[in-house]
Amino acid sequence: MSLPDGTPAPRAFLFADPAAHSLSPQMHRAAFAHAALPGTYEARRVPPADLAAAVAGLRVPGVLGANLSLPHKEATLPLLDSLSGAAQAVGAVNTIVHRGGQLHGDNTDSPGLRDALSDAGYSWEQGAEVIVLGAGGAARAAVHALISGEQNVTVVNRTLERAQAIAADWQVPDADFQVAALPAHAAPWESAALVVNASSAGLNDPDQTPLDAAFLARVPAGALVYDMVYKPAETRLMREARAAGLNAENGLGMLAHQARLAFRAWTGADVPVEVFLDALNARPAREG
Ligand SMILES: NC(=O)c1ccc[n+]([C@@H]2O[C@H](COP(=O)([O-])OP(=O)(O)OC[C@H]3O[C@@H](n4cnc5c(N)ncnc54)[C@H](OP(=O)(O)O)[C@@H]3O)[C@@H](O)[C@H]2O)c1
Repeated sequence: MSLPDGTPAPRAFLFADPAAHSLSPQMHRAAFAHAALPGTYEARRVPPADLAAAVAGLRVPGVLGANLSLPHKEATLPLLDSLSGAAQAVGAVNTIVHRGGQLHGDNTDSPGLRDALSDAGYSWEQGAEVIVLGAGGAARAAVHALISGEQNVTVVNRTLERAQAIAADWQVPDADFQVAALPAHAAPWESAALVVNASSAGLNDPDQTPLDAAFLARVPAGALVYDMVYKPAETRLMREARAAGLNAENGLGMLAHQARLAFRAWTGADVPVEVFLDALNARPAREG
């Protein structure tokens, strides 16, 4: 598709600090090419002091919106005109959609994780036990995705008080799910169908893990360990999970799905997740 002379190509951005090593530009450029849409995607390093000005700068013709990454996902909320239900519930925005000068905040990490878990073969049986490691923004997105699928969640975090704060936010009378916070030794490992690492332990450090392998040994064989970390491609947690007879996946699928959902929100184009995975060189072996 080409644009009339003089019309600026649609633009989208990533605001993060640091931003240089982001994988988002390669995914979104591949998506523009696949959809045969003109458009550019640029990762910008935005220090916290410059966030408000950067967000205000999105309110101009030609801008589709922006992704947000660390440390901006929570701080952006008050700068926007409206929020999706997911962004409100999670308390974090990873996607801003611009239309006619108005900025709408969404959270595609939550549905991105949901879709990645389904791709990884997770069966979403109602009332299944899930253990979430970590208590930052990614853990909040994970809890939102899981309780939306009527899973019972136990949050385990190095700092127990932060896990307890998440559980307190999701105490809903007569709900089809439960959210608890427990120290690792008291979590229901023997009945877990899924363990999600939403902590940053293991990120860029192949020797670091958020969890003693002794806990993995208590998880039923065949359960899934989903590590949101994707660098390195096989984290220590994944290695130890596989050694314990569990299935394990890294976070590239979530990264691809959250990008796919953001791209669809900006352009209306439903680009297959394989385009985003190919841009990451991450198409699962089972898909050829
Ligand atoms: N795959 C994806 O698409 C995707 C999307 C979003 C996020 N992520 C990943 O998810 C991770 C968390 O992101 P976030 O935004 O939630 O970060 P965050 O807000 O900084 O939270 C980090 C969490 O990790 C815990 N933690 C850090 N180091 C640890 C260690 N050595 N052992 C145990 N726990 C440790 C922290 O515990 P304390 O509370 O005790 O400090 C905290 O709960 C990052 O690795 C990020 O890259 C991936």
